[in-house]
Amino acid sequence: MWLLSAILAMAMLVSCSGESARVKIEEPGGADQTGSAAIEFAPPSPETIPGSQLGERIRLGYQIVVNTQEYARFYVGNRLNCTNCHLDGGLNPNAASFVGLAAVYPEYRASNARVNTLADRVNECFERSLNGRALPPDSSKLQAIVAYITWLSRGVPQGATLSWRGLQRIDSRRPLDPANGKNVFANKCAFCHGSDGLGTMAGPPVGGPQSYTIAAGMARVSVAAAFIKSNMPRARGWSLSDDDAYDVAAYINAQPRPDFPGKANDWPKGGKPADAPY
Ligand code: HEC
Ligand code: HEC
Repeated sequence: MWLLSAILAMAMLVSCSGESARVKIEEPGGADQTGSAAIEFAPPSPETIPGSQLGERIRLGYQIVVNTQEYARFYVGNRLNCTNCHLDGGLNPNAASFVGLAAVYPEYRASNARVNTLADRVNECFERSLNGRALPPDSSKLQAIVAYITWLSRGVPQGATLSWRGLQRIDSRRPLDPANGKNVFANKCAFCHGSDGLGTMAGPPVGGPQSYTIAAGMARVSVAAAFIKSNMPRARGWSLSDDDAYDVAAYINAQPRPDFPGKANDWPKGGKPADAPY
């Protein structure tokens, strides 16, 4: 328990310093692509969710995000919670943050060649990242998650460019080295994620039947490498070289994981990324 609190406290500290790193790197010279002033990453804290009826819905959304296993169990098919990847309840600007997303959806996505609502995108992660099932459109849980993200997007104008959006991509400058990936995992990851990658009390599974599916964003090596570079080992983001982040991402994504039955329907009109695993 003591160790766990120490790790959590460290994680909080580092996610704060990581925050400034991300904003410094990404801030496009004080102006976004539309020429207006850059939008600041200034989300409200979940502690300030109001006590109103709407506030109750927002709070439920927050609870589902940080404890998906308990609050949306029926829709989850593995051992992950949203916050395991969207770190700090979606408030971490280095980990595919939820902040501002209500201002950028609905949005066209090449992966399904249609305009997706925010609720569609949430369901995509339920199906692919959590190996679960989509929530019905009228589900109060789905509406609660959307309400939480909408609350985190207050003050962000519709159509704004979010400098912190997604994951900060990196490049590897040499071919992948599987032996190095295996070594990095054993030395820097196995302590928390288990030597087999199946997870421990200190870290969720990164492979095996309880992990994300082959059709999840994280199953692409470039996406996992970006996430790992800025966030892993937990509380020591930016400590791996870009090459090490790529090699270990390739290593975990080569582990067995759930298939995704609908994968044949992806990218119906093209636009498939080069590192899609199928
Ligand atoms: C295994 C890791 C993982 C888990 C678990 C996960 N996601 Fe995601 N999610 C991702 C990745 C990776 C992306 C894509 C980020 C990018 O585009 O750079 C993403 C994208 C998203 C987006 C769109 C972000 C954007 O910028 O458009 C939303 C919304 C989202 N997830 C919601 C959720 C919710 C809600 C849950 C829990 C029900 C969840 N995710 C669980 C990895 C995960
Ligand atoms: C100190 C413990 C610790 C170490 C070491 C560590 N992780 Fe993690 N990792 C975590 C925790 C905890 C989470 C979930 C974060 C949360 O919920 O706040 C996580 C999440 C992840 C995720 C997304 C969720 C999932 O399980 O798919 C990936 C991928 C990941 N880590 C990969 C790595 C890699 C690769 C390394 C080694 C370079 C590494 N981690 C080292 C603790 C650790």
